[in-house]
Amino acid sequence: MTFKTLDSAELAGKRALVRVDFNVPMADGAVTDDTRLRAALPTIALLRAGGAKVILLSHFDRPKGKRVPSMSLAPLVAPLAALIGAPVAFADDCVGELADRAIAAMKAGDVLLVENLRFHAGEEANDPVFAAALARNGDLYVNDAFSAAHRAHASTEAIAHRLPAFAGEAMRRELDALDAALGRPRSPVLGIVGGSKVSTKLDLLRNLVVKLDQLAIGGGMANTFLAAQGHPVGASFFEQDLAPAARDIMALAAQRDCELLLPLDVVVAKEMAPGQTAVIRGLDAVTTDDRILDAGPATVARLVAAMDRAKTLIWNGPLGVFEIPPFDGATTAAARHAAALAMTGELIAVAGGGDTVSALRHAGVVDDFTFVSTAGGAFLEWMEGIPLPGVLALNAA
Ligand code: 3PG
Repeated sequence: MTFKTLDSAELAGKRALVRVDFNVPMADGAVTDDTRLRAALPTIALLRAGGAKVILLSHFDRPKGKRVPSMSLAPLVAPLAALIGAPVAFADDCVGELADRAIAAMKAGDVLLVENLRFHAGEEANDPVFAAALARNGDLYVNDAFSAAHRAHASTEAIAHRLPAFAGEAMRRELDALDAALGRPRSPVLGIVGGSKVSTKLDLLRNLVVKLDQLAIGGGMANTFLAAQGHPVGASFFEQDLAPAARDIMALAAQRDCELLLPLDVVVAKEMAPGQTAVIRGLDAVTTDDRILDAGPATVARLVAAMDRAKTLIWNGPLGVFEIPPFDGATTAAARHAAALAMTGELIAVAGGGDTVSALRHAGVVDDFTFVSTAGGAFLEWMEGIPLPGVLALNAA
């Protein structure tokens, strides 16, 4: 994959249209997690230092082509200005007269945030007319929103064909890290896929077993595999109708020489609630009223030994119900071991997906992995091997 980065861009005096993903969690009009605002800072700093006028484009939530006041980007101006350490202007519309006026008033190094792209139906429709209206406001286009790159929308796809297009710094870091994890990884490559449902990760599992040397399966989805192998899963969550799909994945893994690491032992309780007595059970000792809520110590020991041998780790989804201690044991132990190896450079450890980021944060190691992607759907689609339209468009540009 080739894409232009800002190193090769002429910036002085240019209007840079920067697609960011400011679809941040908010409560009562305040940002509750500013990770995505921070992610945009290196690109903004680089453009300002080069004398560009920085025009930030983003969606927020899903207003479906209508102006929905509660989905305005205006509440982001103050926290963003505080992070940048400079004023941020706001235009009440991303195209048309309001945008024109705000952009005409900009000087080199200024930053402008324009209103939610999805207030216009043309955004999600990847409408060429809307893309042209956006493109008119810029001399160059920068995509710094990997987490929106799975959407073929006007501001992620069509616009990249209308202006000189560049990957921003966050996009570049993300693509480099993902390439190091699955594109051209150092082998052996170990994957961990957890989470509750096999049904949402079938394509991902099918893609990974043909690419990885070992794949550990954890979380509720491991129960479906155990049940498919004829092990008792008691009162645990599992997807009975997906037993054939689980068996197909096991067969594909065997055919492609990917060793599947299914649980060797489990942690059970009678209820999925805090303060429950947790009991370690061998696979065939699970009783009818047991709920499997975490992987057991033998499973964790084998997983950390696999990490010690691996050169690359790609991780999506927790191994147990980490939100409810003590069922966070396996996830936390595995995360800390991976982080320690990543810190010494012995392991390239890449993780992504909403739950995974929370689990790593819970384990206190979110900053210690080689790379942690905060993208949700885009990270999953990339792990499934689906080409992302926003990345393809940069590639072609
Ligand atoms: C995300 O939060 O995953 C991205 O911003 C994409 O949002 P969407 O699912 O509404 O397109």
